[in-house]
Amino acid sequence: MSNIIVAPSLLSAKFNDLEKSIEIIEKSGADWVHLDVMDGSFVPVITFGHKMVSDLRPLADLPFDVHLMVKHPETFIDSFAAAGADYITIHEEATVHINRVIQQIRLSGKKPGISIIPSTPVSHIMELLPFVDLVLIMTVNPGFGGQSMIDNCLLKVSLLKEIKKEKGYNFVIEIDGGVNIDTYEKAIKAGTEVLVTGSAFFKAKNHAEYVKLLKSN
Ligand code: DX5
Ligand code: ZN
Repeated sequence: MSNIIVAPSLLSAKFNDLEKSIEIIEKSGADWVHLDVMDGSFVPVITFGHKMVSDLRPLADLPFDVHLMVKHPETFIDSFAAAGADYITIHEEATVHINRVIQQIRLSGKKPGISIIPSTPVSHIMELLPFVDLVLIMTVNPGFGGQSMIDNCLLKVSLLKEIKKEKGYNFVIEIDGGVNIDTYEKAIKAGTEVLVTGSAFFKAKNHAEYVKLLKSN
């Protein structure tokens, strides 16, 4: 068994029965629950806020990997920290003083992550890499589940893997978007350590088998 971390995304779950969806994730052998928070401004969709995270928290033992696709994430760090997030990931494109927001997440006792959309190069987050626990490379344009992976984003994963090794950084490399049985292998080969998976996870006939497959490399 590999050390690959599998993080099913609730975005593809039935929002009228999230309790059941959390149970499905926990029973599947997955490692984290990925929660996609969207504000209708940074991305053209609204999902849910901190109250949802707080209400779901007692239903699961797994770590909560909160992905904030919101403008000005600094406004929301304290509420998501109090809601029970474990990782809080913000977008490089979403505000100006990213270093400060990362410190804010750290001070709240949570693990900071930084994410970039497909059109943002790794060079934009170079100065932040010593300070984060997670780097999330978006492999689709954020906003929707069920899109196809943009393959050249995996070049950024390979580059990050090299930088991480060379500098001895501690972050884990996560990808988000288009992960399925046809794409997970190339993602892992490039250096991905955490696979977010939404539609393919919830569509799988056997969730545990699907998770096992992603972790089998
Ligand atoms: C996209 C979200 C993803 C999404 C991935 O904006 O951040 O987490 O749920 O969905 P799939 O796995 O269906 O591409
Ligand atoms: Zn996500």
